[in-house]
Amino acid sequence: MPATERIGTEQTGTGRTGTGQTGTGRTDVVQIEVGGAQPYRVEVGRGLLDRLNVPQTQVALIHAADLPMELVSRAQQSLRPAVTVVVPARDDCKTLGELEKVLCALAGANLSRECAVVGLGGGAVTDLAGFVAASYLRGVAYYSVPTTLLGMVDAAVGGKTGVNLPQGKNLVGAFWPPRHVWADVDSLLTLPAATFREGAAEVYKHGLISDPTLLERVLSPEFAPGQSGLVQIIADAVTVKAGVVTRDLTEQGERAYLNFGHTLAHATEAYTDHAVSHGEAVGYGMHYAALLSRALGGADLSTHTLAFLKYQQPRALPPLSFEALWPYMARDKKADAQGVRFVLLRDLAKPYLARVPEDVLRAAFGEWQVAVSGLHV
Ligand SMILES: NC(=O)c1ccc[n+]([C@@H]2O[C@H](COP(=O)([O-])OP(=O)(O)OC[C@H]3O[C@@H](n4cnc5c(N)ncnc54)[C@H](O)[C@@H]3O)[C@@H](O)[C@H]2O)c1
Repeated sequence: MPATERIGTEQTGTGRTGTGQTGTGRTDVVQIEVGGAQPYRVEVGRGLLDRLNVPQTQVALIHAADLPMELVSRAQQSLRPAVTVVVPARDDCKTLGELEKVLCALAGANLSRECAVVGLGGGAVTDLAGFVAASYLRGVAYYSVPTTLLGMVDAAVGGKTGVNLPQGKNLVGAFWPPRHVWADVDSLLTLPAATFREGAAEVYKHGLISDPTLLERVLSPEFAPGQSGLVQIIADAVTVKAGVVTRDLTEQGERAYLNFGHTLAHATEAYTDHAVSHGEAVGYGMHYAALLSRALGGADLSTHTLAFLKYQQPRALPPLSFEALWPYMARDKKADAQGVRFVLLRDLAKPYLARVPEDVLRAAFGEWQVAVSGLHV
């Protein structure tokens, strides 16, 4: 387990985040240590954008064109970057072409091996910026400043960096952990509400696979930008991911559990050519995984996953059939020579990997379709 330290006006000390603390004391900054060969710290709190600092004197700041200027200016004032590189929004920045442009900008500014690359924005920008840092001069210091909920609880922690190819997402990349992560929850105030709820799927998933205290808190009014309890909820979700990647950085085992709900999600995203967003697809996919888990003898967690979908209010899915999605599910990265493996739950916080017989997959798919179509009547 990573060590967690609370720095605040009313809470100090070390230990695991969460577990009943929310609402009992205001926490300004929660620090989470990520272990492994290159340990680093994740800070979750308010006002962090004004307090970014790195030991390197030459800094390259990378952000997307649509990021609110207020966030960019605050980061620029605290970091005083030698060069700021603006890239296209969303996954349009995760291309080899954009990678080359950013690398050329760094070389054009004569940045040396002692420089630092800072990625400011959502998961797309932090994935690109991390890979820029991994590649420039065979590797320079990387720092991550996630400004979306998904970026904070998922993309910025764990060291996976990279870009997409026309053949698929994240096909080129490197494990290149950041030296430090600053998650300023105030930056979420400018995030569209639907984007916040998309990221909530990963927080809820961390609750299902590891920290059930998160489930109720995600569905509570405290889980919203501007609410005092948000720092602790995000910190507890980060703690789950930090623990997993500390124990299994390169996905030899336990890291696969972070893919709960993702087999159907990735298939839905690919089949619909990303008309369904990742967070919404994960919300839908977690419900399917809960139904499969119950069918194989696990506890019935489908009331939880359905409650989350009601909170998330995802857009309605286009017509989907098992036959249409199955070829995409079969390409899942957890598949091996014997076929596809799903992340399932024996109970809350008890994930495991399993092969699922086809008749069970089909029966659960029918049940899932009835449930998710019922969300939009
Ligand atoms: N490395 C990993 O482990 C990992 C894990 C999960 C996802 N990812 C990657 O993350 C990406 C998705 O990340 P995302 O969901 O953060 O979306 P995103 O990065 O595409 O950002 C969504 C949009 O929100 C804008 N934005 C960011 N912060 C904002 C703010 N505070 N206010 C207003 N607008 C803001 C962005 O500029 C962008 O246009 C995908 O490319 C995915 O592959 C990586």
